[in-house]
Amino acid sequence: MTIMRHDPNHQHCNHVDPGRELIHVDCASHIYPDGSVGIHEMCFHVMKDEIVALCGPNGSGKSTLIEHLNGLLLPSEGDIVINGRSIARGERADLWKEVGVVFQRSEDQLFAPTVLDDVMFGPLNLGLSPEEAKAEAMKALEAVGAADLVHKLPNYLSGGQKRLVSIAGILAMKPRIIALDEPTSDLDPVHSAMIERLIIEFKRRFGISVVIATHDLELAARIADRVCLVRNGAIYAEGSPREVFYDTALIEEAGLKLPDTVMTWLEYCRGIGMVSNEQPLTRTELVTLLEKSAGNGNGKSLG
Ligand SMILES: Nc1ncnc2c1ncn2[C@@H]1O[C@H](COP(=O)(O)OP(=O)(O)OP(=O)(O)O)[C@@H](O)[C@H]1O
Ligand SMILES: [Mg+2]
Repeated sequence: MTIMRHDPNHQHCNHVDPGRELIHVDCASHIYPDGSVGIHEMCFHVMKDEIVALCGPNGSGKSTLIEHLNGLLLPSEGDIVINGRSIARGERADLWKEVGVVFQRSEDQLFAPTVLDDVMFGPLNLGLSPEEAKAEAMKALEAVGAADLVHKLPNYLSGGQKRLVSIAGILAMKPRIIALDEPTSDLDPVHSAMIERLIIEFKRRFGISVVIATHDLELAARIADRVCLVRNGAIYAEGSPREVFYDTALIEEAGLKLPDTVMTWLEYCRGIGMVSNEQPLTRTELVTLLEKSAGNGNGKSLG
């Protein structure tokens, strides 16, 4: 795993693999008008065909970073390069076609009189005819399980329904990268599972790279190719979910708690005095190992 500590003498972040980098956040800082630091000398990248999870405590800079990815916020220092286009060089036009952002607060996203108008807005702006835009909007609403909301007024939707409609609005545009800020907050378990499946499908079926900011570390553990721990406006450490979530000291330093699955496994091993090299991340992996351990009469030689 790479523990990233930014060298203050270094003004740029290294390209990891320029040929595959869709997003390159180059030492970017953002200071809000009231002086609050949103992000600070942030180095971050997203590759083609990658799901990246941003995990960090409240106020660590996840939303600020995400709002830079479609040009909604501009860095005070440094640069954001999206698919070779540099924000610092002013190459911002139509960035929304490249990166679709689902905001943390759905109220910031929904504005049209009806749900259908809202989800059709993106496809219409991409130049589709009203009939084509409506078909895309309906497909997207069906994909997120919200087709029954089509004629409702966005203002009168519940928090979870607003989130589903926001996701549909971005999905309908089929951008190259989708960034979702807290995609499962406010959702019931059925809709959360639907969104989780969709995120995996974005990548597998459409080759869309996905960034999620989430406090749901179980979700990050299940679906992310790479986890970036955000602390004080910068990426503090990053690696595969297994590397990151089994580094208990690192998770504590980052101000987070271990995912339940990890904690349960470590406590179980400690409880029966078992030393194991296994590192389950999903409930299925955990149950399989617990069954194996039970089959061994709680033997102490797993892994
Ligand atoms: N519009 C704003 N004006 C001033 N300060 C802001 C604004 N938005 C965010 N901040 C500050 O920037 C810092 C980073 O906030 P941000 O919303 O990016 O964190 P976050 O990691 O998304 O947190 P959360 O997990 O609570 O969503 C915080 O200190 C926050 O108070
Ligand atoms: Mg946030």
